Amino acid sequence: MKILDFGSLNLDYVYSLDHMVKEGETILASDVKINLGGKGFNQAVALARAGVPVYMAGLVGEEGLDFYDKGQEFGIDTRHIKTVTGRCGHTIIQVDKEGNNSIILYGGANQKNSRDYVDKVLADFDAGDILVLQNEINELPYIIDSAFAKGMTIVLNPSPVGRIMEECDLGKVAVFILNETEGQQITGGTTPTAIVSAMDASFANAKIVLTLGKSGAIYHHGDEEYYQAAFDVEAVDTTAAGDTFTGFFVAGLLKKIPVKDNLAISAKAAALAVTKDGAAASIPFMSEVELFNP
Ligand code: RIB
Repeated sequence: MKILDFGSLNLDYVYSLDHMVKEGETILASDVKINLGGKGFNQAVALARAGVPVYMAGLVGEEGLDFYDKGQEFGIDTRHIKTVTGRCGHTIIQVDKEGNNSIILYGGANQKNSRDYVDKVLADFDAGDILVLQNEINELPYIIDSAFAKGMTIVLNPSPVGRIMEECDLGKVAVFILNETEGQQITGGTTPTAIVSAMDASFANAKIVLTLGKSGAIYHHGDEEYYQAAFDVEAVDTTAAGDTFTGFFVAGLLKKIPVKDNLAISAKAAALAVTKDGAAASIPFMSEVELFNP
């Protein structure tokens, strides 16, 4: 069984600020860094660092060539990543002194996927292989339909949620990993309980993981439901915490780790990611997660 993460690769321009910039305000950043990120790339790194071999597909622009070498250093199989003309996807990320972030996303190459490219990538995968998706690339509905037709198992982190409900056949998704904002936009529910029960009503066969930031995470599938508290750490940068959780949780599903343990491992991994600067580079190795006993 192979795992493919088909998603975004972004250059993250990260500015350290006292507070998030307000309308009409100009503030001085105390630091700026350019990091490798994108929800697709981060989740591929998290899968690799959790100990699962992963292929990544997605597009980079001409200034994104670092993704090939660094991706391999992170343990990702990058053979399906392709370079297209024009700008790479990029973000402008504000990180305040509490480690909170806000993100402006420019799609760039991530919005240039063609059906021909999707077909070529998926031709290397078969029924029973796993496909991990987020919502930072174009042609997502086509990718979902094509992968489902092949019998691949689809894991969706519907982030950022955008018009995903109108455009994609979410009934084809086997595992949803989503946060409260995304859950609210998809279901209209305003509490975690309401979101989980609405997701269950609409997608009864799917496994649902609702992440709640500092308030932990809920897993629901059929009669099984578990709650996992978040681990309290000194936050430096919350960027990619959700991606870390997603990658580790999917890795745990593949390794058949019992759900309750898998939730705890994923929450620990996300907590460790928060203690470091950056996106992909902040994601811990499984060996660090195993040693983390808060
Ligand atoms: O989830 C964090 C990621 O979201 C960042 O790396 C940024 O690229 C945005 O896509």
